[in-house]
Amino acid sequence: MSCLNTPVDLCTHFANTRLHLGVCGSVACYRAVELLRAWRGMGIHVSVTLTRGARQFVTPLLFASLGANPVYEDMFAPGQEVFAHLEPGQHANALVVAPASADALRRLAQGAADDMLAAQALAFDGPVIIAPAMNPRMWAHAATQANVRLLENRGNSIVPPGTGGTACGDAGQGRLAPLEEIFFTALRALAPQDMAGKRVLVTLGPTREQWDGVRFWSNPSTGRMGMALAACAWLRGAAVTAICGPGISLAMPRNLACCHVRSAREMFAAAQDLWTHMDMGMFTAAVADFSPKSFGTKKAKKADMQQGFTVDFVPNPDILRTLASKRTSGQKVLGFAAETVDDTDTLLALAQSKLAAKHADVLAANAVNVAGSGFGTETNAVVVVDAHGLHEILPTRSKADIAWDLCTWLLHS
Ligand code: CTP
Repeated sequence: MSCLNTPVDLCTHFANTRLHLGVCGSVACYRAVELLRAWRGMGIHVSVTLTRGARQFVTPLLFASLGANPVYEDMFAPGQEVFAHLEPGQHANALVVAPASADALRRLAQGAADDMLAAQALAFDGPVIIAPAMNPRMWAHAATQANVRLLENRGNSIVPPGTGGTACGDAGQGRLAPLEEIFFTALRALAPQDMAGKRVLVTLGPTREQWDGVRFWSNPSTGRMGMALAACAWLRGAAVTAICGPGISLAMPRNLACCHVRSAREMFAAAQDLWTHMDMGMFTAAVADFSPKSFGTKKAKKADMQQGFTVDFVPNPDILRTLASKRTSGQKVLGFAAETVDDTDTLLALAQSKLAAKHADVLAANAVNVAGSGFGTETNAVVVVDAHGLHEILPTRSKADIAWDLCTWLLHS
């Protein structure tokens, strides 16, 4: 299990891929350990090179103990393989340099080959991800910026430093980017890009239907399934826009656009605005079907309600059905069905009737009353049906793994 706050931490589709992690001399280099642990937790093989500067802060033993294999040091260290500087280029699917010091940026930009990491980078022709960390004045310097532009123009992915206080006591842009950003960027480099060029809309989470100044009608959805779908589609190359209901706390990839709404009507309005520009829609939100007729903006006082009270509800728009029924021929739609049933045959029948009622291409039905597939769980189990009459039972697995399969279903529907 990853220590990072991500919706794809348990996704098994990256197992047995390989990353090479270069760690340079920067106070932030202790944080590279968390990246190593998160990738190792997904079954990714990780080799590491610690530059001379990095070894002033952290030891090879620390990285080796947490599963890095091998851990490279100096080019001519005793016992080093003769062609160790070529090995990541032969075996790894992506190279990540995090943290990258100002000097490392210079060396990478110049094509230096006089230390192990620089030589390995020069002999690496796969995707390269660079996450710089340094003092804000060093980062802002024209020389550093020129090196960054050069590296970017050569096709390297730069994960820019974040802004805030740095270890040296200065403030500004220079601290290592949030680990989730580096983590996701590296995963995208490892993922098949079979959704590249697709624009995907995802609705996720609950909605809140306000009743009075302080009370609302809602449900326990956490948005975890929708986050997993959004992240999987993004990892597979799609441009993703997520419309998130309130209270969503999971980290999303930085390049994934998020729009935050509260009520079903707000979600409907946002989805309608975006839908014409989309190739795919994944409607996972647990939208409240009804909203209470408003009681106003003031708190209703209990002293005024001692005889009990009645709340009138009015129907909300059905976002999925409305958008699916007016889609163009190129647009594909995935819907969900939250049901309370005890057997798979009934779930399958409900999935088929909801697929037709909602005009979806693919529909995934889950029994929210069953342990391991309800609101807020880390796992799900679904029955998938499509408009061609195909169906499949996806047994209990992480929501990330279920999301991966649902993306594949939608792609091929
Ligand atoms: N949905 C939607 N807008 C609504 C209600 C539901 O977009 N107002 C979408 C959900 O995101 C989901 C699908 O419709 O993809 C099915 O939702 P579900 O709650 O299972 O079914 P309902 O349509 O609400 O029908 P019922 O409550 O009768 O099962």
